[in-house]
Amino acid sequence: MTRNIPFHRVHITDDEIGAVIETLRSGWLTMGPKTVEFEEKFRDYIFAGPGAPPENRFSVSFNSATAALHLALKAIGLQSGDEVIIPTNTFVATAEVVTYFGAVPVLCDVEYDTHNIDAAKIEALVTPRTRAIIPVHYGGQMCDMDEIMAIAGRHGLRVVEDAAHCLPSAYKGRRVGTIGDITCFSFYATKPLACGEGGMAVTTNPDFARTMKINRLHGISRDAWDRYTDKGTWYYEVVDNGHKYNTTDLQSALGITQLAKLGQMQAMRQTVAGIYTAAFAGSAVIAPVIRADRETSWHLYAIKVNNRDALMGKLKENGISTSLHFIPVHRQPYYAARYGYKPGDYPVAEKIYARSVSLPIYPDLSGEDARYVAGKVLEYAE
Ligand SMILES: Cc1ncc(COP(=O)(O)O)c(C=O)c1O
Repeated sequence: MTRNIPFHRVHITDDEIGAVIETLRSGWLTMGPKTVEFEEKFRDYIFAGPGAPPENRFSVSFNSATAALHLALKAIGLQSGDEVIIPTNTFVATAEVVTYFGAVPVLCDVEYDTHNIDAAKIEALVTPRTRAIIPVHYGGQMCDMDEIMAIAGRHGLRVVEDAAHCLPSAYKGRRVGTIGDITCFSFYATKPLACGEGGMAVTTNPDFARTMKINRLHGISRDAWDRYTDKGTWYYEVVDNGHKYNTTDLQSALGITQLAKLGQMQAMRQTVAGIYTAAFAGSAVIAPVIRADRETSWHLYAIKVNNRDALMGKLKENGISTSLHFIPVHRQPYYAARYGYKPGDYPVAEKIYARSVSLPIYPDLSGEDARYVAGKVLEYAE
């Protein structure tokens, strides 16, 4: 029997379907009460532990993580000519938001085992123009946040975390979102919490939260929902040159439902990861390395092999779809041309890029299918 195992399949149950139908029937589609509820529940989830006082815990929803990252950089006051240190092994969104300001994305090499930014290589990249670091938590495993926060502290830099792959994730017992200045999440269709499209920024800084909130809706001083309920009036003021970055109640209804099952969905992905890792032990396949002091969401399961292209082709022939995370930013023509990056500039990222394959991992991937994938990988990997 030929199998067809997609790279990703979203986990949607009657809970999500019921929540969206209820919202459709409510008469309010765009950002409104469901979005307020989602933001509050998300904030309470992130800041569930001790830490910032309740009045200093903020969450701001967006229509994507890209939008959240953009306005996070606006909130920290990024200016033209500034520099922001990011890993080269990331999705282009992390770099692109820096360029929106006429600022420069300064690329840093990554660690071979975790694929995360190599904290030991960051400080050499700091110049008088450096304003921020954006650590990207690859596949859901958090970066070396103690080292990164210490570098930021020494040089007066802001830390905006790209947590697009996280949920749930933790570093030394601290939940993602509670460490850097601002942390941005993605709710894109394949992400651990999926709304189709969507994003969220969390912070404990009231000024950052206010800037992001105002700028996600045209720079208007209050939200559409406030204006159309008995809380509001027709009057509004535009206090900044904002954007149209708000999410909708339909997406927030999905978000609320998925937030309640993050742990359950993570456990299901963990089962798949366990099957893969046990199968690859002692073979030519290099499995992901998760540090003992971190909890990963298992958003990605990226292996490394010596015959990447051939393996991907053979898996395809056997009905298994795979992917690759990521083509390094310095290898993208736009960034190479604009900033002069060349192949070979970041040797570790190059080595990962040449060898890595992301295998299917999602809550509804059955144990049988996971064993089939692992078997085919072992059959063809070199
Ligand atoms: C590391 C990383 N950052 C940012 C993004 C952008 O997320 P979104 O599609 O929600 O804008 C992605 C999306 O794949 C990503 O993988």
